[in-house]
Amino acid sequence: MLTLGIETSCDDTAAAVLRDDNTLLSSVLSSQDHIHTRFGGVVPELASRKHLESIVPIVHEALDRACVTHSDIDLIAVTQGPGLIGSLLVGFNYAKALSSVSRIPFVGVDHMAGHLLAVFLEEDKPAFPYIALIVSGGTSSIYLARSQTSFLLLGRTRDDAAGEAFDKVAKILGLPYPGGPHVSAEAGAGNSAAIKFPRAWLGRSLSIHGSHASSIPGARDTWPSGACASGTGPSMAVEEDSLDFSFSGLKTSVLNHCNQSRQMGLPLQIPDICASFQEAIVDVLVEKTMLAARKHNIRTIVLGGGVSANPRLRESMLKRCRQEEKAFFVPRPSFCTDNGAMIALAGFYYSRHSAPGSYDQDVYSRSQL
Ligand code: KG4
Repeated sequence: MLTLGIETSCDDTAAAVLRDDNTLLSSVLSSQDHIHTRFGGVVPELASRKHLESIVPIVHEALDRACVTHSDIDLIAVTQGPGLIGSLLVGFNYAKALSSVSRIPFVGVDHMAGHLLAVFLEEDKPAFPYIALIVSGGTSSIYLARSQTSFLLLGRTRDDAAGEAFDKVAKILGLPYPGGPHVSAEAGAGNSAAIKFPRAWLGRSLSIHGSHASSIPGARDTWPSGACASGTGPSMAVEEDSLDFSFSGLKTSVLNHCNQSRQMGLPLQIPDICASFQEAIVDVLVEKTMLAARKHNIRTIVLGGGVSANPRLRESMLKRCRQEEKAFFVPRPSFCTDNGAMIALAGFYYSRHSAPGSYDQDVYSRSQL
């Protein structure tokens, strides 16, 4: 059985052909980074217009590289949401049209399910159940994955996603979009202990790791004293062992640090800022994932989503998994960022338990998982 996977949730047009034994026959992607980089973020209308141009050639290329034609395809799996509505509509309507004309069934796939299962594209596959940290430009969530089609949401960001924070900090520092890889590259030459950026633990048991003061002499703390239990300011509720995230305060703290440095006539130490910011994000992501595993007594950790391409996150998670004797799985970077292969895979599993898609289905902007 062959599945054609189609992904257009944000700014990458991607397609892949996957055999039911998880053998990937092709995976192609057209990136729009060059279009959005000068705006410092994705411009939704430009993204959907570019998908319109790319969708047909990208699907044809995926079929050609797999040495198959439309008539060889048994199932079309397409991202139904979450994402940018205009972008999703291009892929979803293309899949419906192809399904109608070719009489091939289609399934709408939740993009998060793709990230949660992308690790199964690798040789080394985890066993269920596992705790999955999914971190991308649009989401930061922790799930308990119980099977290929059963996922329990344990925690998620209350404001910015981790990738969004990377992208916004890159913009503050004048680095290109998408910011994650650039911040990560700058961080390689910096000192992660140079600036004490805050960690929003949102819970008492982890708050001992938190820190709030800016390192600039004479500068004011980012938040008033007394907010230290949560690290998120006085308005945020403090819960025991919350698995939620909050990254908007960290982003603001970086902005404040840069403004204060400029006001004091100090040069911006970009590598140190990047390394210290990255460390603050990675600390929270890793510790909350380990907390989720302890709480639910799970021995396997999986990473997914674009930010999991970050070398420091991968390294830090591996180290903590070894310390706590957990098995750790992460896909190669090209399967961490958006791709058609993970959508084909998730759609294949989904189709074994559910009826095919119907032509009156619509796309959605928020994950249903
Ligand atoms: O999953 P993805 O390709 O797209 C969606 O958000 O759906 O993730 C893209 C995000 C961007 O925010 C990008 O800056 C971030 O992943 N990213 C990284 C790295 N590579 C990509 N963030 C940190 N370090 C990286 N090496």
